[in-house]
Amino acid sequence: MTKNIDWANLGFGYTKTDYRYIAYWKNGEWSKGELTQDNILHISEGSTALHYGQQCFEGLKAYRCKDGSINLFRPDENAKRMQRSADRLLMPRVPVEMFIDACKQVVKANEEWVAPYGTGATLYLRPFLIGVGDNVGVNPAKEYIFSIFCCPVGAYFKGGLKPTNFLISREFDRAAPHGTGAAKVGGNYAASLLAGKVAKERNFADCIYLDPATHTKIEEVGSANFFGITHDDKFITPFSPSILGSITKYSLLYLAEHRLGLKVEEGDVYVNQLDNFKEAGACGTAAVITPIGGIQDEDNFHVFYSETEVGPITKRLYDELTGIQFGDIEAPAGWIV
Ligand code: COI
Repeated sequence: MTKNIDWANLGFGYTKTDYRYIAYWKNGEWSKGELTQDNILHISEGSTALHYGQQCFEGLKAYRCKDGSINLFRPDENAKRMQRSADRLLMPRVPVEMFIDACKQVVKANEEWVAPYGTGATLYLRPFLIGVGDNVGVNPAKEYIFSIFCCPVGAYFKGGLKPTNFLISREFDRAAPHGTGAAKVGGNYAASLLAGKVAKERNFADCIYLDPATHTKIEEVGSANFFGITHDDKFITPFSPSILGSITKYSLLYLAEHRLGLKVEEGDVYVNQLDNFKEAGACGTAAVITPIGGIQDEDNFHVFYSETEVGPITKRLYDELTGIQFGDIEAPAGWIV
């Protein structure tokens, strides 16, 4: 049985589902995590997560397959990325096996919230790790909470697989050259809110961030990564120490090369060389693949494939990725749990 939801018109938002997982770090070790129905956290007013942003999070999805079974897509990669984020902010690591086991428990307990096959909707899992306990000095917390909640979601950008326009932010950076851009920490997202608001007020879906050191290269598309397809069929996605590398982007690098036979590169994407690309897109767990119709940079508007139609390579990448996620296409070894 699945919940009675208008799955086809579901956006990306919070819904209180039945169960979430919670574990506590105290005296140097993790408690045995458990499921709870309580969605309210009771934490000290001195928690470092509240004052100094000592927290990180993840995002991954559960997919209903044709035979009714449920897939998780590369949860070990989320677990490892959360460990890298934890290292950057001096938080304890959640072991990979504990992370995957917690994801499975949350999905099983909320099985009715996993959309039926064919609707395009999924169950979004939000693992997070926060510094808690009584603190006030700028020091790492002594206690932590690791929790995972989940929500049924549809497309992140309105329209899903529809060309979408973005605005280059010339006013704001998302991250500093040697800051926390590569870690999935809340502060990066707080820093993005104002730039995103400016873009949305001008009717763009979100903003594009340039590299904070030189402001000449594309780094991120809102909370997603950028990719472009060159005229000679090369899949290029930016590489920089201030980018949050999405698991989707690394999956697409693999699929573009091994399933579509494209050349691939993690390299520089200069704003003044957008003519090199015949197609472009944003990619991430939430965004999946969102084709980029056009990019506004000051007075210039650059259109890629089309403002109304999805480019053929972007479409093939989307079909391959989502086919694997929903269990219709054979996955590379270890990608599906
Ligand atoms: C995700 O794709 O999971 C993200 O982290 C984007 C999210 C902040 C909405």
